[in-house]
Amino acid sequence: MRNRFNGNLKWSDVTPKAQWMNRRSLLLGAGAAMVAGQAGAKITSVPSAYSTDAIPNTFEEITTYNNFYEFGTDKEDPARNSAAFQPDPWAVQIDGLVDKPGSYDLADILGGVTLEERIYRFRCVEAWSMVVPWVGFELATLLNRVGVQPSAKFVAFETVVRPEEMPGQRQPLLDWPYREGLRLDEAMHPLTILATGLYDEPMPKQNGAPIRLVVPWKYGFKSIKSIVRITLTDTMPITTWNTLNPREYGFYSNVNPKVDHPRWSQASERQVGGGIFAPRVDTLMFNGYEDQVAALYTGQDLTKDY
Ligand code: MTE
Repeated sequence: MRNRFNGNLKWSDVTPKAQWMNRRSLLLGAGAAMVAGQAGAKITSVPSAYSTDAIPNTFEEITTYNNFYEFGTDKEDPARNSAAFQPDPWAVQIDGLVDKPGSYDLADILGGVTLEERIYRFRCVEAWSMVVPWVGFELATLLNRVGVQPSAKFVAFETVVRPEEMPGQRQPLLDWPYREGLRLDEAMHPLTILATGLYDEPMPKQNGAPIRLVVPWKYGFKSIKSIVRITLTDTMPITTWNTLNPREYGFYSNVNPKVDHPRWSQASERQVGGGIFAPRVDTLMFNGYEDQVAALYTGQDLTKDY
């Protein structure tokens, strides 16, 4: 990632805690009905046992401090530069080692699923973190529906390429499209979701409208936004940051406080919205999801498979 000096205070850094706690209790009081579909379709989300009880960041924090290089490299760019982006209509191409390949409309994908609220910790490789109340469903549900063939070992994802709507793509900031990948067992894990909203809103453009991946035990760059293609494959897929700089960004990129980034420590993190005087907090192994996911990596040396 571009390594920026974080000297500039944003209003979200100084929002009093009482204000975001208040929003949280308002939302809890409002019940579970949520607008999470596209074009105003109302979808109800249900609470999930996988949610953390940590207090979510505000909607404003989550939607004004973003990494989405398709819209520029500054944290404010995705909110500022995404007005022309059209996330509706939307289809996802699902291909490779699946029984039912094809182009699936988002409405079709959402047709058979129960949307859940998943309040997850989110840890960026740049050592900042948030807590986000996503609305989504397990990736495994979709993969089971399209039928994963026995020879499949990995899942590859691609973001849409629309330079006319995404100003960052008019520059060679990255080798477009943005690509990510998971091992099949990681993709099938119940914590791994495709998210279509957050709080009571359809997914904001800057957060990856209309559908993005969320893998809460991995660094945030694995959670690819605005997905148009999902490919089941038997070989480890090419991924954007790993290809750009394999020494700094491994394929696995599990949150690991013991494996530093070559240019900074991963032992602690800055909580976005914590205020300027808030101390950094210790980063947790697998971002706090160790009990659920450590078994995926039994026998692997995570200092080598970083
Ligand atoms: N997906 C795409 N297509 N392009 C990006 O630049 N940035 C990644 C990830 N997904 C990125 C992306 C990084 S580095 C992070 S930290 C998260 O998105 C940020 O997600 P958020 O803005 O919803 O917090």
